[in-house]
Amino acid sequence: MNDCYSRGLGFETAPASHSLTIFAAVIEAFISDGPLTIFRDSPGTRLMISTAIKFYDAHPGSYDLKREVISGLARTPRTIPPKFFYDRRGSELFDAICELPEYYQTRTEMDILRNCTAELVDHIGPDCLLVELGSGASKKVRLLLEQLRPSSYLGVDISKEFLLSSTQTLATDYPWLDVHAACVDFSHTLDIPHCQSCEHKVTFFPGSSIGNFDPDDAIDLMHRIAQMMDMNGYLLIGVDLKKDISILNSAYNDAAGITAEFNLNLLTRIRDELGSDIDPGAFRHHAFYNPDRGRIEMHLVSTHQQRIRIDDQFFEFNAGESIHTENSYKYTIEEFAELASAAGFEQKQVWTDEDGLFSVQLLKTV
Ligand code: TRP
Repeated sequence: MNDCYSRGLGFETAPASHSLTIFAAVIEAFISDGPLTIFRDSPGTRLMISTAIKFYDAHPGSYDLKREVISGLARTPRTIPPKFFYDRRGSELFDAICELPEYYQTRTEMDILRNCTAELVDHIGPDCLLVELGSGASKKVRLLLEQLRPSSYLGVDISKEFLLSSTQTLATDYPWLDVHAACVDFSHTLDIPHCQSCEHKVTFFPGSSIGNFDPDDAIDLMHRIAQMMDMNGYLLIGVDLKKDISILNSAYNDAAGITAEFNLNLLTRIRDELGSDIDPGAFRHHAFYNPDRGRIEMHLVSTHQQRIRIDDQFFEFNAGESIHTENSYKYTIEEFAELASAAGFEQKQVWTDEDGLFSVQLLKTV
């Protein structure tokens, strides 16, 4: 296998001296985190011409699944951190959720984004650094790029493989764009070197992922976003709205059972990666809107009394006992304005769909 790299935003093809086809992702580590990161795809992949992206790796993948699962299960109530949803299977299932008829969020947000770009450009102007948090497949940002014309793009995601391939594609599709990628768990840190050198910053945080944080943590995260932008920048954020409870409940209890599979995949990971005797079939998906807390809660409920083992630890479950896996908070526009203000932002403009299901909000630091 050949290695291929370039420094700066050059353009390089892989030396064709090897019969194996090579994925020549050309990635430069743009901080002192080792001189250069070279990314190789698995052998047998077709040769692709690669545009350089600048890559910063904070190594967030080194989480200890075992330690976090064991401590979460020992807690009352029991919890498993939602970040563990997103292994390869989990990411595939999540993509499938976004296509579900009951799951209105993705398509509604995309429609809103399509309709708001012109006004957005009026606010923001060209040549910003656009930072996307949880960039994943970077599909949504494509709706903005042509019109907004940022000079740089920085995708931030915890999943390295996914991040690299999607930013690579973005760099190829938008040759005028200076593309950066940072593999960072932004729920912990937003200390990203490249950001410090740009003045005109816009953070894009779609998918109502802010709703997956408890309100205090959401304020804390948004405050850190403001700091990352030197207290001077815009935050374009997707926020799911409070609505008819039956719409919410069916969005997280789809008829095809994909959300259930997504939730239960956590247990499959624990079984396969931690060598646990846990049987995912002995738990069921339970998701419901909790009106007092203004949130959807997702749980995995033990179908009967059982004992499971992880490593040398045993956990006793009563029938009906649950593991809390995720929350998804819903806000009114006014409630979110309050939260934003506690984090140092003001709402500049809010766009919603006709049915008031979802909102895209442009916030500015104050
Ligand atoms: N933030 C979105 C939401 O809460 C996406 C999401 C995260 C999600 N985890 C999920 C959707 C689990 C369905 C199931 O809806």
